[in-house]
Amino acid sequence: MSRIAIIPGDGIGVEVTREAARVLEAARDAFGLDLSLETYDMGAERYLRDGVTITEDEFRTLSDDADAILLGALGDPRVPGQVHARDILLGLRFRLDLYVNYRPCVLLDPRFCPLREAEGRTIDLDIFRENTEGLYVNAGGVLREGTPHEVATQEMINTRHGVERIVRAAFEHAQRHGRGRVTLVDKANAMPIAGGLWRRTFTEVAEAFPGIETDTMYVDAMAMDLVRRPERYQVIVTSNLFGDILSDLAAEITGGLGLAPSANVHPCRHALFEPVHGSAPDIAGQGKANPIGAVRCVALLLEHLGHGAAAAAVDAAVRRTVADGVLTPDLGGAASTEQVGAHVADAVRGAAPAANAV
Ligand SMILES: NC(=O)c1ccc[n+]([C@@H]2O[C@H](COP(=O)([O-])OP(=O)(O)OC[C@H]3O[C@@H](n4cnc5c(N)ncnc54)[C@H](O)[C@@H]3O)[C@@H](O)[C@H]2O)c1
Repeated sequence: MSRIAIIPGDGIGVEVTREAARVLEAARDAFGLDLSLETYDMGAERYLRDGVTITEDEFRTLSDDADAILLGALGDPRVPGQVHARDILLGLRFRLDLYVNYRPCVLLDPRFCPLREAEGRTIDLDIFRENTEGLYVNAGGVLREGTPHEVATQEMINTRHGVERIVRAAFEHAQRHGRGRVTLVDKANAMPIAGGLWRRTFTEVAEAFPGIETDTMYVDAMAMDLVRRPERYQVIVTSNLFGDILSDLAAEITGGLGLAPSANVHPCRHALFEPVHGSAPDIAGQGKANPIGAVRCVALLLEHLGHGAAAAAVDAAVRRTVADGVLTPDLGGAASTEQVGAHVADAVRGAAPAANAV
């Protein structure tokens, strides 16, 4: 049996995770999967009520017992400094050493693409963002705070070990999925110290994958090229900060944050799946959040657990739902979060193998 921990979190995280769980249950029943789902109360409400973010016991359970974690989003304007989000989300990413942040960006329908001449474009690229180092380790400090001479340093950490494992993960993914090219994105002209390590490592790792083409791009040129000719890219590997920014851009040219899923993985150990978007306080509680990013996380989760047919059925059900025009307002539709989730779940049940159909 596979144990799945669900952390709905805050704002629309709760709403989209409810629909993702509905689809997961539909896939479990339709494909006869042995899955148990357990929901965890972690988020702003609990923190404001009890002063607790995540306990050591909860961390141990998630670390030792869960085969996969499905998370909604964390963030609430009532919590100063978003301390709960830091403890829970960044805590899990860092403490479980989830060094791969995998963000697939695929254009499901040309109508969702804000670029000119979207018809006929094939955007289908995978971003591998380093998830445990870079500028996000919070190393540095402040001197003479609050004075006109204040100094703030925020250090960027790049280790050979950390760079090599994310670069290798990108190449292995390319090989497994028949992707012909891996592109390294950096800023080696302005930041040659970090860039040197990334480029040397990239070249050395690439030698083990002779069938895969390589190229390198500076991050500023990459931002431009993602708008100009995104179809050129297949697999992109990059640092924490650049991956964070580029994946929002890539999400936008494929229909927006509401559609984008992500996986945080330490291969063969831990995996946490979450939509790319945040808790969206501006639309929380209105039933109009797009649940498709969270639902596509379910497809990634099922694939990760080795349930390829069920994952493909969820993916096909999402495409069916889009083709049927059952869309939330961010995509120009009038459907509610729940209506989209129910439509996808019905389509998954419709794809059940005959033996399991009910
Ligand atoms: N992984 C996470 O948990 C995560 C990621 C990003 C932001 N956050 C947190 O979320 C809070 C809000 O952050 P933000 O406003 O910068 O980013 P956001 O992603 O929550 O929202 C950005 C914009 O996109 C829209 N949007 C986002 N998801 C949508 C969806 N599923 N359907 C329709 N529209 C959607 C929102 O309405 C908003 O206008 C902050 O506290 C932030 O720290 C959390």
